[in-house]
Amino acid sequence: MTLGLRLWCLLALAAAGAGVCLSCHAPLAELVQDAALRQKVSWEGITCDYCHSLRDVTFKGGNPKAEIVLSLEKTGPLKDTFALAHKTRYSAVHTSSLICAPCHEYRNSLGLPVLTTYSEWQNSRYAKEGRGCQSCHMYQVAGKVVDPKVRQSTGAMANLHQMPGSHSLEQLNRTIKAQMPADREDGQLRISVEVSNAAAGHYVPTGSPMRQLVLEVTADPYSGRQLREERVYRRTLADSQGKPVEREPQAFLRGAKVTSDNRLTPGEKRIETFRFPVPAGTQTQVQATFWYYYSPLAQTESQQRVTFLTLRRLVK
Ligand code: HEC
Ligand code: HEC
Ligand code: HEC
Ligand code: HEC
Repeated sequence: MTLGLRLWCLLALAAAGAGVCLSCHAPLAELVQDAALRQKVSWEGITCDYCHSLRDVTFKGGNPKAEIVLSLEKTGPLKDTFALAHKTRYSAVHTSSLICAPCHEYRNSLGLPVLTTYSEWQNSRYAKEGRGCQSCHMYQVAGKVVDPKVRQSTGAMANLHQMPGSHSLEQLNRTIKAQMPADREDGQLRISVEVSNAAAGHYVPTGSPMRQLVLEVTADPYSGRQLREERVYRRTLADSQGKPVEREPQAFLRGAKVTSDNRLTPGEKRIETFRFPVPAGTQTQVQATFWYYYSPLAQTESQQRVTFLTLRRLVK
């Protein structure tokens, strides 16, 4: 991800009345009280200075909240370090999942848990093993903390700051593992797709309630029409009148209850069975495709979804 805010997203935020949205999508705008987004800094989204001005995260009453002190003293995970341009202050919270919680755990004013990534992680075996968000999203890579022309730093490693998540094909491919045995049952072709959430430290999908993981299975008999079925892993939401909620801004502002949730929990393995009326002896091309669907607000097809895994086999 770019830590900046995508334009279409910002427009959506402005349209939604902004206040609620800015605290996570453009936190400095909230801090400098610029809800109309007049200042340049408000457009920068989640900046270095925001995260490195964070001193603590508290859970007093409801949602986790960041304590930010804007000053020339920057906080971070390095001990015994010094910088020429500003003072530095060691911060244990930077090495903990807590720092991610103010934006990745959120219950709205109607009590709907809109974002639950932090608590999903907290209840997973990864939390028990001490593997925080940073271990998967900000792993160590070779790199200098500061341009060596400015100062020779002691370490040769830095934490990756791109936060690869579901927009990274590599992360998706690590996460979803699948196999596709096929056999016959009562004269029908039976395909069993074994799906597992092998690498995410939370549900798949997590985060925005509009995210979906889709598994589509097709059977193409040599003579005959293509048969097709799908499974969608997602949450569905409704407002207080019971009307389905289909977009992020509505989820944050008007979502009142979760009406279904069949997402894959961390480490879960599930078997999905598909039955197609294909007579024995008919050569059939079977294909399973997984794609990840991001958001109904995305403008282009490629921003909306990505196909990341395809399995094929020929059966008789
Ligand atoms: C064990 C590794 C692991 C841990 C721990 C982990 N994640 Fe992830 N995360 C992943 C992988 C792999 C993906 C990509 C697959 C996916 O989207 O679920 C991902 C995806 C995401 C996404 C993108 C969701 C989307 O659909 O856009 C967010 C946001 C996220 N993680 C936040 C967090 C936060 C916050 C924590 C800590 C509370 C955390 N992750 C802990 C591995 C991990
Ligand atoms: C979303 C919050 C976030 C943003 C935005 C962010 N950082 Fe960080 N940064 C962290 C966290 C968390 C760590 C510590 C990771 C760890 O130790 O596991 C860190 C570590 C660092 C470190 C210490 C060296 C290292 O890699 O561990 C430096 C220097 C740093 N960040 C600079 C920056 C700069 C410069 C920017 C803007 C380009 C930036 N950060 C943006 C959260 C953030
Ligand atoms: C100030 C709020 C804020 C903080 C703090 C924050 N995030 Fe996020 N994060 C966001 C927002 C907003 C998005 C969605 C950005 C978008 O889609 O344009 C996001 C998206 C992500 C994604 C998804 C990237 C993708 O591929 O779609 C991951 C992974 C992620 N964050 C991990 C983390 C981790 C790990 C931490 C803690 C070290 C963290 N974030 C701290 C606000 C924050
Ligand atoms: C508590 C923090 C928080 C608040 C408040 C919040 N968001 Fe978000 N929003 C996020 C995070 C984190 C993600 C990314 C989750 C993920 O990767 O799945 C996100 C994702 C989105 C997306 C999808 C972006 C994409 O790249 O696909 C849209 C659109 C969005 N939010 C709009 C809004 C609007 C509009 C509001 C206000 C009504 C709002 N958000 C309030 C944290 C927040």
